[in-house]
Formats: sequence, structure tokens, C-alpha cells
Amino acid sequence: MDAVSGETSLSDDGVRVIAIDGPAGSGKSTVARRLAERLGLGYLDTGAMYRSVAFAAMAREIDLADASAIVEVARASDIEIDDSSVTVDGVDATTQIRGPEVTRSVSTVAAISGVREVLRVRQRAWVIERGGGVLEGRDIGTVVFPDAELKVYLSASAEVRAERRAGEVSALDYETVAADLAARDAADSTRQHDPLTQAPDAIHIDTTDLTVDEVVDELIARLG
Ligand code: DC
Repeated sequence: MDAVSGETSLSDDGVRVIAIDGPAGSGKSTVARRLAERLGLGYLDTGAMYRSVAFAAMAREIDLADASAIVEVARASDIEIDDSSVTVDGVDATTQIRGPEVTRSVSTVAAISGVREVLRVRQRAWVIERGGGVLEGRDIGTVVFPDAELKVYLSASAEVRAERRAGEVSALDYETVAADLAARDAADSTRQHDPLTQAPDAIHIDTTDLTVDEVVDELIARLG
């Protein structure tokens, strides 16, 4: 790996990367987690990294319109993500990064190219340290690991995605969750830098009527 940029090639021996992208509520996290378990690989929720930067910026009361200050926060912040918890600068942020305040501001933070660059380098370094992994996000197959062994684009109907999210966020009613989700999807798909799109060579699976195991079985079959 280039020590300065963190750039690497997957042709490096033994690096196995599965890239899973899709909008909120499409089933990425559950599928990625279970697939990683079945393959004996690590799992990285890259959305949690963007959420962590938003959390750190809010904790320091930084104006979300101040892009360069937020890039500095991204550079300086120590983000630790493991299977069950997220720690930002030594503070347990597991619950707060999923809360409505971070959820409403994270698309603004994720639209800043300097933030994306900082996190992209960390995502690549994470993979190299582990010799591979299953990563989920919005730009994994298109930008972070365009040469991944398998690229997957998950989707689901807007209704089912909102129902899934409303089930996770008990403090908000369905209509609020559905409206927030639609606004976030629009922002994530139309931003200038690394918007959510399906890579041309990604497998597209609509998870609306599928169980997690059905999706994971299909991906394992594709891996051969
Ligand atoms: O997957 P999630 O909803 O926790 O992601 C939070 C936000 O982070 C999402 O609105 C878009 C952004 N994101 C991104 O831009 N690129 C990624 N690779 C992952 C997430």
C-alpha cells in the first residue's frame, strides 16, 4: 500500500472485497453482516463513518455550511467501529449516530469531497489490514473498490424501506421517517461527488420480497 495515499490494488495477494451499495433501508447492513459471517470476513459499515464525522462536527458545534472545518474534523477524528459499537474520539456514539439529528445532517457532511477523500483512504486501509472484507455504503463498488470481486446493488420499494427504518427508530412515526428517507436518498443520489449509482457490473437485487438468507444465498452462489 502507498503509505501516503492509502491507495492499493486488489491484485495484492489474498485481498477479497465484496462491495454492497444501495439506498437507506435496502437491506445492505443486514445482508453485508451475514455475508461477512458466512465468508469469514470482516464487515465495515461505511455509513457509520460518515455518521461519525457528522456526530463529531455537531459535538464541536461546527456550522454544517463550513465545509473546510468539517474536513478538518474528519481528518482529526478517531473513529473506531466494531461489530456492536461506534466510538468517536473516545466517546461511545453508538446510539447517537443513529439518532434523528445526525441522520438529518449526514447527507450534507457526505456531500463534501474532502470528507469523502479522508474516509476513502481509511476504508482502503481497513481492507488492507484485514486482507479483505465486506463493505457497504453508497460508492463502494463505483469509487472505493471498483475492482471488488463482487459488486452488489440492493434496492427495495420506497414503502418497504421506510417501514424497515421506522421499525428501527421507535421515536419517529412512519410518515416522518418516510419523508426523511426520501430527502436523504435524493441528496445522496444527486450530489456532485460520488453519488449513489449502480456500478455497470454490479448484480442488482430487489430485496422487497426477499428474506436476508435468500439474498445472501444468491450472493454466495454468484461468488462460486
Ligand atoms: O448507510 P447509512 O444510512 O448509515 O449512511 C449514512 C449516510 O452516509 C448516507 O445518507 C449517505 C452517506 N454515505 C455515503 O455517502 N457513502 C457511503 N459509502 C456510505 C454512506
